[in-house]
Amino acid sequence: MQSQTIMTKAIQGFSKLSKAEKQTWLAENHLENPQAALRLMQSYMHGDDRVQRQHDEFTENTIANFYMPLGVAPNFLIDGVVHSIPMATEESSVVAAAAKAASFWLHRGGFKTQVISMTKVGHVHFSYSGHSSDLTTAFNEAKPALLASTDHITTNMRQRGGGILSIALIDKSDALKDYHQLAVQFKTADSMGANFINSCLEVMAQAWKMAVADHVATKQSTMEVIMSILSNHNPDCRVISEVTCPVTDLKDGEIQGEDFAQKFKQAVDIAEIEPFRAATHNKGIMNGIDAVVMATGNDFRAVEAGCHSHAAMGGQYSSLSHCSIIDGQFRFWIDIPLALGTVGGLTKLHPLVTLSHEVLNNPSAKQLMGIVATSGLAQNFAALRALTTTGIQQGHMKMHLKNILNQLGANEGEKQSLTRKFSKSTPHHADVKIALQSLRSLQQ
Ligand code: MEV
Repeated sequence: MQSQTIMTKAIQGFSKLSKAEKQTWLAENHLENPQAALRLMQSYMHGDDRVQRQHDEFTENTIANFYMPLGVAPNFLIDGVVHSIPMATEESSVVAAAAKAASFWLHRGGFKTQVISMTKVGHVHFSYSGHSSDLTTAFNEAKPALLASTDHITTNMRQRGGGILSIALIDKSDALKDYHQLAVQFKTADSMGANFINSCLEVMAQAWKMAVADHVATKQSTMEVIMSILSNHNPDCRVISEVTCPVTDLKDGEIQGEDFAQKFKQAVDIAEIEPFRAATHNKGIMNGIDAVVMATGNDFRAVEAGCHSHAAMGGQYSSLSHCSIIDGQFRFWIDIPLALGTVGGLTKLHPLVTLSHEVLNNPSAKQLMGIVATSGLAQNFAALRALTTTGIQQGHMKMHLKNILNQLGANEGEKQSLTRKFSKSTPHHADVKIALQSLRSLQQ
């Protein structure tokens, strides 16, 4: 019975249907009220057909647009320039927290950034059984040909200052039988470069296969390319963002600067040594990072993968941010890998991505690395400041109250009245529901 139900929902050739047919099929086969579902999907279409077509083509099987708020956090003083940072996020407190942290540091010297390096890496993963000296000889002889094999792909990139930086043969057969790599380093100028890197690697893998066949033609040796792909672990594509000020400048309301700094540093130290806390601590950092990565049309999954693999580099998952107090000087910084692009991809295709770049004054990839790292640091600062003083719920619940009121269908007058009522407390869903009911009964 169950498998019959499953099969009725299966469909051949779905991708070949028109968008209207896809919507209808989905509404009729998966949704309780097909007419209402169709109206909903259609109401989320862009009014301008040209823009809608662009969105349709970002991916396959598009049936609607999925809205996400684009917010802006102003007052970010970064390397002497004040930025307003666009952030695409659904989490209610993220933009407010970023703006708060930005204002705090605006008057304390702002954020300073430094890009350590922009080198990216990819691998041809292959298995080889045979004499390793034969393979090394083949590699040394084939290296110029491996580079030359990618010439037609790298021409433009080389003109933009990028290209292939190095190729190394790495023997990993100690860890996995016969496993070897060609590890290739790339510079991709202002593009994220994933397609460029993967194209180079695939071409190089073919050339490498031929070179090994030519050079290592003994019966005992076999070589097989397993896969060719960039790595999202980018330890050499790194940026630092930091804030620093005298401890005394950290006085926060009633809290003395020294007390604030010490407790704040303890919170960071805990995340350095305790993976349970590090995961949440870094999640807060990614709240800031992902939002800007999304707004600027970059690949947030790649950035997430790179940051988390970096956080585990020491053998135990740890904090992406760090804190020191030396000679009365507070320093808080983040040191993370970020593979970002400001050309190609969605940058000129998605109108709001183009707008976000313009808001940021059309940064280079290098400048964007500093801005995104800063957004992560600011978010972490805001979270730790709240956690170590008032607790996180005060700020969170204020924003959450808006969502609860919307869920309960409160009108503008009711929203204002209940926001006032709960201005000094952190109410839960049930509290708000009761308060709304009693407000309505009073109005009857
Ligand atoms: C919530 O999205 C993020 C925090 O949990 C981060 C943190 O605990 O540091 C507040």
